[in-house]
Amino acid sequence: MYGPVIQGKLVRLRPPRPDDAESMITWFEDLEVTRFIKLRHPPSIDFEKEFLDRMARDPDAIFWVVEHEGRTVGGTSIVSIDWKNGFGTTGTVIGDKSAWGKGLARELMQLRAAYAFTQLPLRKLKSGYLEGNEASARAQKAAGYKEVGRWTGDRFIDGKWHDHVLTELLRKDWERSHV
Ligand SMILES: CC(C)(COP(=O)(O)OP(=O)(O)OC[C@H]1O[C@@H](n2cnc3c(N)ncnc32)[C@H](O)[C@@H]1OP(=O)(O)O)[C@@H](O)C(=O)NCCC(=O)NCCS
Repeated sequence: MYGPVIQGKLVRLRPPRPDDAESMITWFEDLEVTRFIKLRHPPSIDFEKEFLDRMARDPDAIFWVVEHEGRTVGGTSIVSIDWKNGFGTTGTVIGDKSAWGKGLARELMQLRAAYAFTQLPLRKLKSGYLEGNEASARAQKAAGYKEVGRWTGDRFIDGKWHDHVLTELLRKDWERSHV
């Protein structure tokens, strides 16, 4: 599924359009953008179109494009949603580096959590980040995610093994600060 439009102060989350695939593939050409994510080899345009198609058809995933000042700068999602047990896994890529460090991830994670807990019956959002991804760690913390464990030396990045820090955001904690 694609997510509906959610307007924030800095970002606008919106459903993807077919022409987004072209800007999306350029994000993954840059090793700085892919340093802390699984995808480290740029996809082809067909792969990216297929990805957007798969997201549209997947009843257990919600995908948004992230816009900032009218430009498509990233993507964010809740995937692997388990509707029975009420959880999903969140992820974000701001692929346009000129948009980094402006608070976009911080805001969008808060908007996405509000959507998950007010428009969907989810109880928990699971996520994580790789050791050294300070921006992701801080944005998640600001949205209320807490560390719940780590897989040590899980990913090989720039010649070193890095821990995968596992995080979660519980509805009850979110409600305590928002309702
Ligand atoms: C990680 C990512 C989503 C962060 O997005 P962003 O919009 O640049 O982040 P924000 O501007 O909202 O910053 C979030 C926090 O990190 C801090 N921060 C931003 N860039 C930072 C950096 N390079 N080093 C340290 N802290 C940084 C900000 O000051 C902010 O902290 P605060 O809330 O305490 O003020 C973005 O860099 C990205 O997409 N990177 C590539 C893919 C990726 O790593 N995705 C996440 C996988 S878990």
